[in-house]
Amino acid sequence: MLDATQQKIIEINMKENRRGLIREMFKTMKQYNVTALEIKGRKIRTSSDHWVIDFASCNYLGLDLDPEMENGVLPNIEKWGVHPSWCRLVASPHIYNEVEEKLANLIGTETTLILPTVTLISIGVLPALVGKSGVLFLDKSAHETMYEASKIARDGGATLVSFAQDDFVKLEELLNLHKDNPRKVILIDGIYSMTGDYANIPKLVELAKKYDALLYIDDAHGFGVIGENPSEESPLGHKGNGIVKYFGYDYNNILYVGGCSKAYSSLAAFIGCSNEMKTFLEAFATPYDLSGPCPTASLATLYTGIEINEKRGDIYRKQLWDVTQKAIIGLKELGFKLHNKTGYPIVSVHIGDTQKLIETANILFDEGILVTVAPFPMVKEGEECHRLTFTAANTDSEVDQLLEAFKKVKDYLER
Ligand SMILES: Cc1ncc(COP(=O)(O)O)c(C=O)c1O
Repeated sequence: MLDATQQKIIEINMKENRRGLIREMFKTMKQYNVTALEIKGRKIRTSSDHWVIDFASCNYLGLDLDPEMENGVLPNIEKWGVHPSWCRLVASPHIYNEVEEKLANLIGTETTLILPTVTLISIGVLPALVGKSGVLFLDKSAHETMYEASKIARDGGATLVSFAQDDFVKLEELLNLHKDNPRKVILIDGIYSMTGDYANIPKLVELAKKYDALLYIDDAHGFGVIGENPSEESPLGHKGNGIVKYFGYDYNNILYVGGCSKAYSSLAAFIGCSNEMKTFLEAFATPYDLSGPCPTASLATLYTGIEINEKRGDIYRKQLWDVTQKAIIGLKELGFKLHNKTGYPIVSVHIGDTQKLIETANILFDEGILVTVAPFPMVKEGEECHRLTFTAANTDSEVDQLLEAFKKVKDYLER
């Protein structure tokens, strides 16, 4: 029941916050709040006879559709119940230890600490690291969740400063300004979530070491997709062990955060760190004692996903790369401007006008294509785009259908 008090609160916020624009879009946008009634491969039924091809999920390796992923779920539920809902400080089922060890072996850190989401890790870890007087150096293009977490840290007394992505002159200036502060943490994305850009790890590590700072890397998208020893034949590298390994670095001056809800299709996230840092975070990062744990099924699928990755992850990454390049080439041939310099499976197609964005989103939807529509204020004004994310489970013929649909978008824009 909407009472007058709630109505007033909603009305004021609709006017005060630019997110009101997103609420307004719900009225005309077919691509928001879609209900999946049935899923077959990468196709989703959204009404009695309308199917869309999914270019919006981040199940990069296609593990959500891999039947082997189910193998561990039932046995683990039989062992641990569907959701042993202790906070982690009180107790955790042993499968946590097993998965944390597997993750540490994969990425090459002493240990890892699992919490349900990357957001919870940032909210817990950033205020814990900088305490009452440290400094956070936030990359303005990094994921919004780090900004939200930084605001909590700032509320606790820390200083928050920011720099534009890859503006190392500005970053160095800021690090120099705060050089005497012993708690300095630089916040970046490993892979940038709208452009597929790679963080410049060599330059960032150089600065972190020079100024005795920590580099906190949110690799929600990179984990599982890029990894060690990239080459011309394997541009994404091997093993999917993340952006640090992609650049051949170790974890000195780095805290690495990986997300498992994308490439591993499992609700979990982890921070890779030393044993000493893990123990510190267990006491200082509040989601460890204030929030619930991951569901058993997610820990089981993550465990199995790591095993599948060992067996055929590199094959999936090759398929993922190939399907992405086919789409990139086709979209460029159609004349679209893409925010993608790396070939990574995040491809944002520039539209640059909110009204046109809504209309083209609806064309795509009618043509059977599901994308992530990114209007202002989700992105800067003028940078409105349709974000496509590809997975190893997308087929060539699905990409052909995507290109056909974008041909219609092009015709509409040129009208
Ligand atoms: C770069 C980045 N960081 C963090 C998140 C949030 O991850 P989670 O859902 O695990 O909180 C996302 C989600 O899309 C992301 O793209």
